[in-house]
Amino acid sequence: MSKIYASMVSIASYIPKNCINNKDFEKFIDTSDEWITKRTGIKTRYFADSEETSSDIGVKAAKVAIQRAGISIDDIDIVICATLSPDYLGMPSNACLISYRLGIENKPAFDIISACSGFIYLLSLAKSFIESNMYKNVLIVGAEKISSILDFNDRGTCVLFGDGAGAAVISATNDKSKRIIDVNISANGKYNDFLMTPICSNGGLDSVKNIKNTTGKPLLLKMKGNETFKLAVKTLANDVKEILLKNNIKSEDISYFIPHQANLRIINAVGDIINIDSNKIVLTIQKYGNTSAASIPMAIDDIYSSGKLKNGDLLLLDAFGGGLTWGSSLLYFNG
Ligand code: UT7
Repeated sequence: MSKIYASMVSIASYIPKNCINNKDFEKFIDTSDEWITKRTGIKTRYFADSEETSSDIGVKAAKVAIQRAGISIDDIDIVICATLSPDYLGMPSNACLISYRLGIENKPAFDIISACSGFIYLLSLAKSFIESNMYKNVLIVGAEKISSILDFNDRGTCVLFGDGAGAAVISATNDKSKRIIDVNISANGKYNDFLMTPICSNGGLDSVKNIKNTTGKPLLLKMKGNETFKLAVKTLANDVKEILLKNNIKSEDISYFIPHQANLRIINAVGDIINIDSNKIVLTIQKYGNTSAASIPMAIDDIYSSGKLKNGDLLLLDAFGGGLTWGSSLLYFNG
């Protein structure tokens, strides 16, 4: 039997409709468009409506991903969702809700929590499921409504994040030239207090605020920004260098470098260290801010939808997030 490879056969995203400018934040916290632009690269981000949940957003991206894969709903063998802002704390999972809304029944569905590294972790799982011959078509979704867990009194975090979703179908192929070459994932819980989201709710900011804090712990997203920044640059640079070396691929062979969109300065620092042509770095941070597990698929879809991404292009992905978690991947796009 010829070897089975995992392949990314489609990509899609969904951007909520409410565009929030940096200047909107100037009205209620001590910040400025100039500071946010200079320190992060962010100009706008999109927030979901109050009644819209992360699974609602995920379903919208997933539908398009399945359609673009050219397969039917019945062909999907498993649904996995990465989110740090699920509809419900614990259960049901967003993956179950998304499956149900898509009309998928009696197939496995579960969520993973690996924060901003979520999409890389999803790729790793999908690749393993396919290459072990367990499943043929895996639907992976990164879906976030981070606006529902933001502390709008904390200027160090509330200006950074946005809502959105990205989805992809990962399918089995015998064609080596269309494969996901490699996925590196890692974590170190020693830094667990760098980024924290102690509680989630589908009710949005109001209901989170109304939950009585009996633990004394913060109820909204918290981040040690500067410490996270420094560790992100160092860890990502090492991780990306390692995956390139391991697979004998040089920076100049890469068609697009698609990093997690947390901070333009982190992206540029890693880009400089691996010496990649700046024209090959995909940037969406200025438009969408940090959408955590959705940021990489949203960025891939950004170049797909604008016609830049072509079948056979070699992509380098990397991400870093709460946990702390991180990861990178090399793959040939096959959409
Ligand atoms: O996606 C998951 C991983 N996340 C990341 O990798 C994010 C990593 N961190 C970052 O992107 C950056 O650390 C931030 C953008 C969060 C902060 O930038 P920074 O250059 O590290 O700033 P800082 O935290 O060292 O703060 C510098 C100053 C402080 O004021 P003082 O103490 O010097 O007076 C902050 O209070 O900037 C202040 N500051 C702000 N000023 C205006 C922090 N946030 C703001 C703000 N507007 N929104």
